[in-house]
This record gives sequence, structure tokens and C-alpha cells, in this order.
Amino acid sequence: VALAHPARLIANALGPPPPDIIAAAHERGMLVAALAGKAAHAQAQVASGVDIVVAQGYEAGGHTGEIGSMVLIPEIVDAVGDQATVLAAGGIGCGRQVAAALTLGAAGVWMGSAWLLTQEYARMTAAPAVQEALLAATSSDTVRSRIYSGKPARLLKNRWTAAWEQPGAPTPLPMPLQNLLVADAHQRLMRSGQPDVVPMPAGQVVGRISEVRPVADVVRSLVTEADEALRRAGGPR
Ligand SMILES: Cc1cc2nc3c(=O)[nH]c(=O)nc-3n(C[C@H](O)[C@H](O)[C@H](O)COP(=O)(O)O)c2cc1C
Repeated sequence: VALAHPARLIANALGPPPPDIIAAAHERGMLVAALAGKAAHAQAQVASGVDIVVAQGYEAGGHTGEIGSMVLIPEIVDAVGDQATVLAAGGIGCGRQVAAALTLGAAGVWMGSAWLLTQEYARMTAAPAVQEALLAATSSDTVRSRIYSGKPARLLKNRWTAAWEQPGAPTPLPMPLQNLLVADAHQRLMRSGQPDVVPMPAGQVVGRISEVRPVADVVRSLVTEADEALRRAGGPR
């Protein structure tokens, strides 16, 4: 489906993209990115021919590994060298974090959770309770759990994630079975309108975001703050 659209970029998580898909994307002039949670992932992705490696640390929302961004980013930058472009992800929500990622050697950043707290997301989501829950969350209010898909993913902590941690709760099934098991329940919880049960991938950085803004405002603040931070650190003027 993605290949049939005039997309500029295909991003792939949970393993290196198949070489035939990379070739098909390249034939159409599309770039291919892949998410890596450790240097070995990045090396496998580079060997498959990806253009961009996204070094995504433990703090990130969604499926995520065990290594924090501060350690992971330079590790992947060094492992990849000049074989692909490295973007930094996981815990990036403000310009100082962008500056830190650039300083660690990344060519740019890749953000997820911060976009959940934008006006554009508010217009496309059918569950306003999600933004209510995200606004109330602190950086301690996420949990890495297998209950979403069977593989570890960072989610907003709430009554649903807590229920799976109760004594006697079932152990999540391996991917893809867990997702099949919970899909109907997730839809019902999303429709419930209750911020304390919505099943939602979210990263630790949501704790720093306290208002819903237009994407353009978020990008402007990221650039201004990153520029100031780099100048303070003695970087490019
Ligand atoms: C709600 C949500 C859904 C996501 N879904 C995907 C996905 O389907 N595929 C993927 O490669 N990454 C996915 N991610 C991870 C993002 O691409 C990104 O790497 C991550 O959010 C970066 O960390 P941050 O959340 O701290 O910004 C998702 C993240 C969030 C918050």
C-alpha cells in the first residue's frame, strides 16, 4: 500500500526491512528508514541497504529496546559511520533535546510522542480522552509492557496496564497473538472516553508537555531552542 502511494519515505520497525521491499522503494525514488534499539540492529539494517537508521532509545513511545538514548545514539552513530544517515529518537520533545541529539552525532531527530499533543492530532483522533490523559501524565507515567502487541512497547500507565500487572493476570501472548487478543478491548477502551483506561503508546517525554499546540508552533520552538542551546554550547552561530 505504501509503495502504491507517492510517499517520500518508508520507515520500518521490528527488524530489517526485506531487501526486495528496499529495492522496490528505491526504484520509485523513495527513501527507506529503519528503527534500531541497539548497534547490532543498525548494522543489520545497513547491511540490508536502508538509507536512514533511526537510533531509538528506551525512553521512546511504542516498541522500544532497553538502552537509553544518551548511550544508544553515539553507539549507533559510530556503528553506522558513513553507510547511512542516523536520526535520533526517544525522549525528544524540546529544542535542548534536539541540540543534545545533534551533539551526540545524529544528523537529525525523529519524534513521535510530542505529535500526540498537537491540534492536528486532536482533529484526527476519535478519542479526546487520549490527549486529556497525556496532558495529565508525568515522565513517570509510562510503562514498558508486552500487553499491546506481545513485544515490549512503552505505553501510558493507567488502570488497563495496571490490571495486567495484578497477581494472577495472564502473561501476554507472543506477537502477533497478543494484538489479536486485545484488539476488540482496545477499541472499546478508546471509545470509553475515560482517560484512565485508554490504551496508548507514549514516551517518557510526555511528562514535559503541558499544552496542545499546532505542529508549526512546536517546530518553531524546537528550532529556536535548539539554536540557542547550540550557541550556548559554543556550536555553530
Ligand atoms: C502512538 C505511537 C505510535 C507509534 N507507532 C509506530 C509504528 O507503527 N511504527 C514505528 O516504526 N514506530 C512507531 N512509533 C515510534 C515512533 O516512530 C518514534 O520512534 C518514537 O515515538 C520516538 O520516541 P518519542 O516517543 O520519545 O518521541 C510510535 C510511537 C507512538 C508514540
